[in-house]
Amino acid sequence: VIIIPGSGATKLGRDIALSMNVKTLEFDTRKFPDGERYVRLNGRCDGDIVSVVQSTYKDPDGLLMEYCMLADAALGAGASEVLGVFPYLAYLRQDQRFKDGETLSSKVFAQLIESVGTTKVFVVDPHLHRLSSLDVLFNVPAFNLSAMFMMAEYASKNFHLNDPIVVAPDEEASQWANKVATVLKAGYVVAKKVRSGDLTVEIDFSGSNLEGRDVLLVDDIVSTGGTLASITTKLKKAGATRVIALVTHGLFASGAYERISGSGVDHIITTDTVPNERSIVSVAPIIKEALDDAL
Ligand code: R5P
Repeated sequence: VIIIPGSGATKLGRDIALSMNVKTLEFDTRKFPDGERYVRLNGRCDGDIVSVVQSTYKDPDGLLMEYCMLADAALGAGASEVLGVFPYLAYLRQDQRFKDGETLSSKVFAQLIESVGTTKVFVVDPHLHRLSSLDVLFNVPAFNLSAMFMMAEYASKNFHLNDPIVVAPDEEASQWANKVATVLKAGYVVAKKVRSGDLTVEIDFSGSNLEGRDVLLVDDIVSTGGTLASITTKLKKAGATRVIALVTHGLFASGAYERISGSGVDHIITTDTVPNERSIVSVAPIIKEALDDAL
């Protein structure tokens, strides 16, 4: 077994290899003057099962292309099998043709991953909303790993939680809120979100009195920070003592920190699926466990 850490998950890929006590295979990459990408592995992997670990942020298209090239290079260098490990897999939010003429991005992304010979796929907290499982997207076995249990344990150990309640900012986040609530042995409520543009969300959170309670706000992605800022403001108005956000993928797109800073959120915990300054919980153990089970 060999791990190739892609450019989107260099440290995490190496951490996974270290924890599994297996080798990494590094590679050279550069861009030609016309923008085309070049990839060359620094060794062979004859007969090995190769796991390419790639997160697809900040450059989802380029990092997917790099994944495809690495998978192809590994097979060309003798790999017996290529597993695709995607700590963060982009494009899953476009899981339907909302308007005529739109592309089904999630399906296109999945097909490209499969087209280079990937035999198994692992994704941490994929954004599954209207799709019931990853099997709807992939024909090869696809595993949904969740960081929510580890983040909940982190929160439980590191904050003296007072009468905690878990809040999902929208319906799709209820699956993750449920996991956190189970660990904390707490209840959870689901708010209603209406997105009217990339940067504009309206969240309805009424009817719950949170006076004196700590709120664990749970979501899969923080991108523009609009969701997190909007719901936090409402939670504080409803009396929450502290709002502690547990979010798997901290993308923090341009302007996110500014948007969030005035909202009153007390702590933001994210994982290292996308390295950022709030990457506090590592997903290496859950990926190690999933790979161990699959091998
Ligand atoms: C979408 O429904 C996701 O679960 C997140 O709530 C969303 O991607 C967060 O995006 P933003 O930070 O831009 O509001």
